[in-house]
Amino acid sequence: MKRKFFVGGNWKCNGSMHSIKELCEALNAGERLESSAVEVMVAPPALYASYARSLLRDDFAVGLQNCWIGKPGAFTGEIAADMIRDAGFPYVILGHSERRHIPELRENDQTVARKTRYAIEQGLAVVLCIGELLEERQAGKTREVNERQLNAVKEVLSDEDWRRVVIAYEPVWAIGTGQVATVEQAEQAHAEIRSWLEKQVGSTAAAETRILYGGSVTADNCDELAKQPDVDGFLVGGASLKPAFLDIVRSHK
Ligand code: G3H
Repeated sequence: MKRKFFVGGNWKCNGSMHSIKELCEALNAGERLESSAVEVMVAPPALYASYARSLLRDDFAVGLQNCWIGKPGAFTGEIAADMIRDAGFPYVILGHSERRHIPELRENDQTVARKTRYAIEQGLAVVLCIGELLEERQAGKTREVNERQLNAVKEVLSDEDWRRVVIAYEPVWAIGTGQVATVEQAEQAHAEIRSWLEKQVGSTAAAETRILYGGSVTADNCDELAKQPDVDGFLVGGASLKPAFLDIVRSHK
């Protein structure tokens, strides 16, 4: 089965009513997305998600950037997966490196895994982010770190649940730095992740799970990356805040 190319725009903690309206208008001005060829999701800050949904054409999916670990309740400031689903958003991004590594947030592998399981139980699809720090890459531990983060999730998911997971490989040293991974570095990590899926989950998951690359993707560097056999799309940060995001979407062709 051919994996449908997926491009996510993670707007992170950026935007205003004004800038979001402008960006949505620019995205709507592009050609309609061919649903058989590419899937596009943008993830605005939660406060603006409904606003963005109301502005965007229906061929753009809208997701959230994070959710609470479990059921709704007395958890001030949190948003539960149940609510994301109820409000009509199909996706949530989980395990982003900013949530794993910013000292005030510090989510560990088990927290990310529990969030993933609960979100899937509520019917959401999860963009699950993994990736190594610069010192881990320099120590030759890229594969080990990716597999440790994936193993924690595997512990709590059934093989069937992986159908609702899109993996985003995001080397932390490439995020927001302008230092994109080379096509060889990206393809190697993606091939290793696919081989982990084959061994640990099964051949269907290995064949069907989309593995996105994230980290300083721009309209200028996406085409070569998109040609790699195990690169099934992108999770884009900074460049998703500009109309040129559409050029990254077009890289599937
Ligand atoms: O979620 C997106 C990634 O963190 C990539 O961000 O494209 O600004 O490097 P970036």
